[in-house]
Formats: sequence, C-alpha cells, structure tokens
Amino acid sequence: MAEDGERIEALLEGMTLEEKIGQLTMLDAGRLITGPGRPVDMIVAVREGRAGSLLNLVNPAEIRAVQRVAVEESRLRLPLLIGLDILHGHRTLFPLPLAEVAAFDPDLWRRTARAAAGEAAADGINLTFAPMLDIARDPRWGRIAEGPGEDVLVARRFAEAKVKGFQGDDIAAPGSLAATAKHLVAYGAATAGRDYAPVDISERLLHEVYLPPFHAAIQAGVAVIMPAFTDLAGIPMSANVAVLRDLVRKQWGFDGVIVSDYDAIPELIKHGVAEDLAAAAALALRAGIDIDMMGGAYEHGLPIALKRGSSRIEDVDAAVRRVLTLKARLGLFHAPDKSDGLQASDPRRHETNRSLARDAARRSIVLLKNERPLLPLDPGVKRIALIGPLIDARADMLGPWGALGKPEHAVTIHDGLKKALRAAEIVAVEAIDVQGRDREGIRAAVETAATADVIVLCLGEDRSMSGEAASRAHIDLPGRQQDLAVAILALRKPVIAVIMSGRPLVIERLVERADAVLAAGFLGHEAGHALADVITGRWNPCGKLPVSWPRAAGQIPIFYAQRPTGRPRDPEDYFTSKYLDIPNEPLFRFGDGLSYTTFAITGLRAQATKLGPTDEIVVDVEVSNEGPRDGEETIFLFIHDPVASVSQPLLELKDFSRIALAAGERGTMRLRVAVKDLKHLDADLRPVLEAGFIEVLVGTSADRARLHRLTVEINLEAPAPRP
Ligand code: GLC
Repeated sequence: MAEDGERIEALLEGMTLEEKIGQLTMLDAGRLITGPGRPVDMIVAVREGRAGSLLNLVNPAEIRAVQRVAVEESRLRLPLLIGLDILHGHRTLFPLPLAEVAAFDPDLWRRTARAAAGEAAADGINLTFAPMLDIARDPRWGRIAEGPGEDVLVARRFAEAKVKGFQGDDIAAPGSLAATAKHLVAYGAATAGRDYAPVDISERLLHEVYLPPFHAAIQAGVAVIMPAFTDLAGIPMSANVAVLRDLVRKQWGFDGVIVSDYDAIPELIKHGVAEDLAAAAALALRAGIDIDMMGGAYEHGLPIALKRGSSRIEDVDAAVRRVLTLKARLGLFHAPDKSDGLQASDPRRHETNRSLARDAARRSIVLLKNERPLLPLDPGVKRIALIGPLIDARADMLGPWGALGKPEHAVTIHDGLKKALRAAEIVAVEAIDVQGRDREGIRAAVETAATADVIVLCLGEDRSMSGEAASRAHIDLPGRQQDLAVAILALRKPVIAVIMSGRPLVIERLVERADAVLAAGFLGHEAGHALADVITGRWNPCGKLPVSWPRAAGQIPIFYAQRPTGRPRDPEDYFTSKYLDIPNEPLFRFGDGLSYTTFAITGLRAQATKLGPTDEIVVDVEVSNEGPRDGEETIFLFIHDPVASVSQPLLELKDFSRIALAAGERGTMRLRVAVKDLKHLDADLRPVLEAGFIEVLVGTSADRARLHRLTVEINLEAPAPRP
C-alpha cells in the first residue's frame, strides 16, 4: 500500500547503518536445533536493533515478549519476522512431504499447510521455511524426505498448493504465514547423494527439472526464497548472481525476500570463493540475498565491505526495503501477532486438525503388494503378532522435521491396531532396535509370531536417518532388520510388511516373500489410526509412489522420465543398455500403488487429434470400479515426443487427477494439457514448440507397457479446424 511505501522510505531515511544491517540479520533463538548455531542474546540484539528476525523461537509467551521489545523498546519499533521450519505441521503433524505427495491431492496438500499455518500463527510465528521443493532422484540423499519426489509436474503443483496453504488468499490476514520456497536450486542432485556435496548438472537439466517448481512457487506468490547450501557447477548458490539476481529477480520478476540458509554466507569461505567474512557478505549481497540467517556475515562483514567499496549502500537499502516490505505485506506494522484468535492447542482446532491428519495419513499410504489378497484383514482374525522395532515408535512418526509436534501425542501402529481390532489378540514384540547390531531378540519374536494367525512386520528407519545431514550409502533395512525379516518369513505364515522410512528403501527380498507390503513414510500424529484403517479395510488405500524405489543402490539416480538411449535394452542383443546382474526397471515405479478394488480404464479418446499452438490436448477415459469396494484411483496423462530437435524423455507427466468410484460405478475422467505446455528447450535452451506427432499415454502408473495410448499431431502452420 502507498502509505507503507512512504513509511518504509521514511524509515530508511532515518536508519543508521547498524539498524539497516540489523534488519538483514536473522538470529537463532536456539529453542530447536537446526544448525551449528551459537548462543546469542536475542533480547539485547532486538532492543538495539541488531536483529530484525529470529528463527527457532517457539514458546508463544517468549515470542510475544520479544515482539514487545521490538515494537516498544527498540528505537525504530520495527516488528520481527519469527521463522520456523513448519514443513508438515506445527503442533499437529501431518505426513512427511514425501509421504503426503503419494496422495496426489493438491487440495489436501493446501489444506494441511493451511491448518499448520493457523496453529503456527496462533503461537506468534509469521514465517515458515517451507515448502521444500527440491526434486530428488537419489534416495541416498536424506532430504528426499522433505520434498515432492522425482517429478516436475507434481513438484510444481505441490509448490502452488503449499504456498496457497501457508499464505492463504491474504498473507496479511490472521492465520497466514509467509512461505519460503527452498532450497534454490538442484540441491537434490548433490554428488553421490551426500548432503551439502557439490552439484554439477547440465543447464538443460537445471531448466527442465530443478527450476520449474521454484518458478511455480513464485507464480503462486511465494514471499520468500532460500538458496541451497550447495554450489551449482562451482558457483555457490549463496553467491549465484546468474540464478538469484538475473533469473529469479530480473527474468522471473521475484521482488520478495531472499533469506540465506543457516550460516550459508560465511560458508562461502569454505566453498573457496571468499577470503574473509566481508568478501562473503559482499558476494551474497550482490547476488541478492537480503537476510543473513545466523551467519554473522552481514553484521560483521558488510561494514567492512562497504568501506572496501566491494558493497554499495544502495544494495543494502534495496535489501532493507524488501525486508520491510515483507513485514508490511504480513501486516506486522499493524499487528505483529497474526493469531486468528484461537489458541494453537484449542480443543476445537486440535480436533479438526487431528481429523485432517488422519485423513491425510490414510491417503498417503501406498499398498505395494497384496497377495492372496491378505488385506484387508479378515475381521475374524483371532491372533495377530505385531513384530519389529517401529511398532511402538512415537517420535519417529513425526519424521525429521517435527516442529512442535509432541511425540507422546503420536498414535503408534500398535495403538491403532489395538483400538481397531478389539476382538483380536495382539501380541507385540519389538525384537530389535532400528539400527542396533544385537539380534538376541529375534528368537522371542519368532516364537511369538509362530503362535499367530497373521504377522504384521513393521520395519524401516528411525526419524534420525533421513532429513538434513542424513544421507545413507546403503539404503536397505538398517541394523538387524533383514535378519528379523528372514526369520519371521521362514515361518511361512501370512505376513504384512509395513515400511516406515524417510526415503525409498532397497527391500527386494522382503517384498518377494511378504504377502502384503505397505509403504507408510512417516505419517504424523495419526499414523497408527491411519494404518489400522487401511489394514482393517476401513479405508481403501489409494496412495501412489511419487518416487521410484530402486532394486539396488547401484541403479541410482533412478526415475521414470529418462531420455531414450540409442541402444535400448534388448535381451536378444548383447550390446544394449542393461545391468548384468539386475533388471533396469526399479522395484516399484513412479505411480505404483494398489487398491482393494480393481479399476479398469477403457475408451481413451481425444477431442481433437490435429492441434495448433493455441489448442489443448483434451482426452477422456472411462474408469470403472470393477471390484467389491468403493475406492479412489489416480489417473496420469503422460506424453512422449518421439522425434524432436532434442531427445525427449520416454514419458513426461503432463496431468493427473483422482476419481472416486463406488463399487461397480463407472465414470469419465477428462485430462488435458495445453499445446503450449509441450514446449521443450531446443539445442540452445530456448523454449520451442515443434510440429509433429505426440504420443499421449494414459494410465495408473509410469509402467509404459500398461499405458493406453493415442497420437495427436501438432501443426504450427494453419490453426486446427474447430470441431
Ligand atoms: C537448515 C536447513 C533449512 C532450514 C534452516 C533453518 O540448515 O537447511 O532447510 O530451513 O536451516 O532451520
């Protein structure tokens, strides 16, 4: 608003250099540990105007107290940004992002973000460092857990949904937070899946895969961007003028705030591009970073850089202007407290959010195998053995970014099954630790399991094994879990394997021998109820994998949208692209996920098969529920351009949608993609639409052989005749 603009200019006029740099400094209050922080006296710093924002301050009373110091005791009376990593819930934890994406439900993704924003704002938070938008095709990388998986379209829709959820229709309104699109860019391509390791990818891959989700976030109005810790082909993102200034600010028109990652500006010295703090500060400011998160670089380095002439006061002023503009957009000058009037833990809010958490968790579960079919469990089952190190795990259900979620409020799978199967006898044995090397407890587990009618084997990772700084070279079942699985499966009893993890795991042998397999991610506070709902059949699973599960780590990077090779695998021809020891295909594909009913797709047809540049490919399919139960199915529309000036991926997702059908019901699903969205980057990386045939492939996963297909022709000369 104009008066905000005038106010900001007047403030700038009257600010000392220290106060200006204060507005560019974010200090860590240290109530949660998310980086190599150091103790700071935040109250003194705020009172003296040396800090304009804080992170990891979580107690509502403390937040209100420090805001009061800022607006009543500091000379300029400027409110604070209060930031926290609210990725998938604040006090009520929803499924981990990589799990929630399996729902393929943008409206759900928006609703959970909205619920989290309401809780956080009620506590005095006004900025979340989310959504994390790093596409990942390497499950060794622990931060795959925090993001949207392997696909560009899914990541773009996830970005839109989360930004809309966190920021609402009005970022100034109570209950809204500023969202942060992070970590720009290609952080998920870190060398060998090792966190923070160098990133060196082609310009093409950068523009085709890793940048689009951030562009989508900016188009959705995201208020803040956070660059990655990593470099990009030798240029650290915290100093990357080409991406931050030239692309994001100038070309994409982003005028919001760019906040560094934690201590990332001083780390430019370790990256080998700055000889001291002042040089690091100058590089970051020149690239367009506005706020230095807990680096001390702007506070201690900028004054020197200005004296040296390596930084300009105009750039400092521009950064301060953007930070103050964000505070104005958030409405903080009028109301530093953005609560919607309901306490974060108010029973009404709590009840609603727990119910949403259970629905989100159920929709995030992926049924990967179901022989016999063993699931849903026979309601008359008498004795169930619940085995494994995660059967009573509470904290782990909250994943590696649990914000203020209380572990004691989490529902374990043991709790859930006990409550849902009151008539059955449930005998539970943890047997071993998640990561422990001790196998003593396996014998007792086998003895118990031998007495049961059915075994629920609950295996996977604990919350510390994914997330930041948690890469794994071996992504199989940790500790002695494989030994436990072998011993239990040797009983040849019906086994349901429930896999809880922050990443795809290498579990081929377990999958071969278990009767049923559920991928459960980390499902949040309602994990146990959601799993019980699926296991008992109260909920018909509809989750689909947003990321490929490899047979072996040797297949990594593994993803469905690969370009063709000149020597595609051919068992009849030695000289083709293959492994000598395993198939090329992943263990489970993008989009895999079974149901308790069966869906059939027929009648694929296009409204028009000759299209011009301004047209839309519109296809309809008939989907019928031919099984015994109501259910939901996700249908994907892929394309393939078989002949183009640049080789195109064998499949590219261009639309997806879900359909709910009662048993026996049939429905028509319409999927669409604008012809303009078929553009690809030519040899010079310029977007180009090329004439020719496009294969349209529709189905329920990236299993190319099972997709229904038709061909359309793109004609650039004359506009397609209207039907
Ligand atoms: C961490 C993470 C980033 C997070 C920030 C603040 O190091 O890289 O995702 O938002 O610090 O906690």
